[in-house]
Parts: sequence; C-alpha cells; structure tokens
Amino acid sequence: MIEPQRTETIVRRRYAAGAKERTDKLCCPVDYDENLLKVIPPEVIERGYGCGDPSCYLREGEVVVDLGSGTGKICFIAAQIVGPNGKVIGVDMTDEMLEVARRNAPIVAQRIGYANVEFRKGRIQDLALDLEKLDHELKKKPITDAASFLRADELAEELRVKHPLIATDSIDVVVSSCVLNLVEPRSKPQLFDEIFRVLKKGGRAVISDIVSDEVVPEELQNDPELWSGCISGALTEEGFLVAFEKAGF
Ligand SMILES: C[S@@+](CC[C@H](N)C(=O)[O-])C[C@H]1O[C@@H](n2cnc3c(N)ncnc32)[C@H](O)[C@@H]1O
Repeated sequence: MIEPQRTETIVRRRYAAGAKERTDKLCCPVDYDENLLKVIPPEVIERGYGCGDPSCYLREGEVVVDLGSGTGKICFIAAQIVGPNGKVIGVDMTDEMLEVARRNAPIVAQRIGYANVEFRKGRIQDLALDLEKLDHELKKKPITDAASFLRADELAEELRVKHPLIATDSIDVVVSSCVLNLVEPRSKPQLFDEIFRVLKKGGRAVISDIVSDEVVPEELQNDPELWSGCISGALTEEGFLVAFEKAGF
C-alpha cells in the first residue's frame, strides 16, 4: 500500500495541477445534458474530471452535496435541476479546485438568475470537519510543539461537533463523480459512514465511480500514478454494495 498520507498528498497535488491546466489523462468521455452546460464557463467544463453524471437523478427542490466537486461542473448542472428552492454544496479538499469553482459560482448564478451553490473545503471521509474554520483557528493558535498538536486535535473535534461542515441528517441526495475511489483504503469505511450520517432519513446516494471486476492487485494499488488517475483505488461492485450496507443503507 502507498502510505495513507502519501496517497492523499499525491491526489491533492495531481488535482491542484489539473485545476490550473486541463490534464487529458484524467478525462473520461461523459454524456452531459448539453442544455445544462450552456451557462457553465469553459474552464469549469474543460478541467472537470468526472466519469458519469449523477445529477440526472436529482429532483426540483432537493438539498444536494457533491463529494469531490472539483471545478464545480456537477454542482452547476445540479443547481439548474434543483432550482431556486433547492441547494447544492460542493465539497473538495484541493484549494486550486475550490478557487476555480468559487470564482465561477457568481457567473453561473447571474446566468441562471439565482445563487444556490456553495463550495466548502473538507475531506469527504470527514464531512464534519470544516478545514477553513480549522485553518482560521490554527492561525490564532499555531502548532509549535506536541502539546499544541494535541490541542489542535481537540479543537478539530470541537469544530466537528459545534460547527460541522455538513450537518447530520441535513441532505436529500449525496452525489459524486469519480472521487470515492481516490480515498485511501483505511478511510473508505469512514467515507461510507459519513455519507450515511449526512443524509436525511430516506435520502439517496447517487454515485458514479469506476469499479473493478476483481480486487485490484496490491502492486497496482501501490502505483501513485494509477491511484491518483482514478484507476487502482477502484472497489468492486460487490465491495461498494457491502460498504453501503455496513454503513447502514
Ligand atoms: C476525478 S476529480 C472529479 C471532480 C468532479 N467530481 C468532476 O466531476 O469533475 C476528483 C476531485 O476530488 C477531489 N478529492 C479527491 N479526494 C478527496 C477527498 N478525500 N476529499 C475531498 N476531495 C477529494 C480532488 O481534489 C478533485 O477535485
């Protein structure tokens, strides 16, 4: 296995670069509804690296979270489907992706006539922790030694409880396109638990992701290029179903 921390760092670096410049190797052909793409600026579309369009399962008025929202393509499509009475929250951990998405949100809002999309910084396996709030607190109380490191851990826990990035039972539909595979193996169970936690009772998860016919061999999982390229982190279809069931679905 790649070291867990390394996996996330490699993924973040690769998508930070992909936010600045289109990376053809990360692109999959996807049939989006052309009409819904018309209001979305080209840089958002060009630097989107999804592998499917879960937004086609959304309904008017729903509250939606997009896990690993990237430049915001799925969020901006979803915004038009759920309409002004609905709401879309994109979550991503990569600053460069959030920058593109946030910069384009007012442009899309102006074109569709309402603003119902926002982007929040977090890790999708820890949807309670608002990384920007944590940053803000750590600027006031930087980590300088072991004691302050432990205090930061307590602070993160307090933020999860008092100011969650995504509250428990608050979401009608969780969507995601080509991101769940990128989460390191040891955090995958927590990822499914988090999807279950944030959904309202009767809520839905609509996930488009890569799946493998067999459990991916370890040497391929150890390849950072294949992992961050949405290949070797793939679960099997059975693995997905078991993970959802274990989380409570
Ligand atoms: C393959 S791209 C997909 C982007 C988007 N869903 C789309 O359809 O264009 C993966 C995105 O997920 C983000 N990501 C990967 N792992 C993540 C994690 N553990 N937590 C939050 N975001 C993550 C990356 O920063 C990147 O923006």
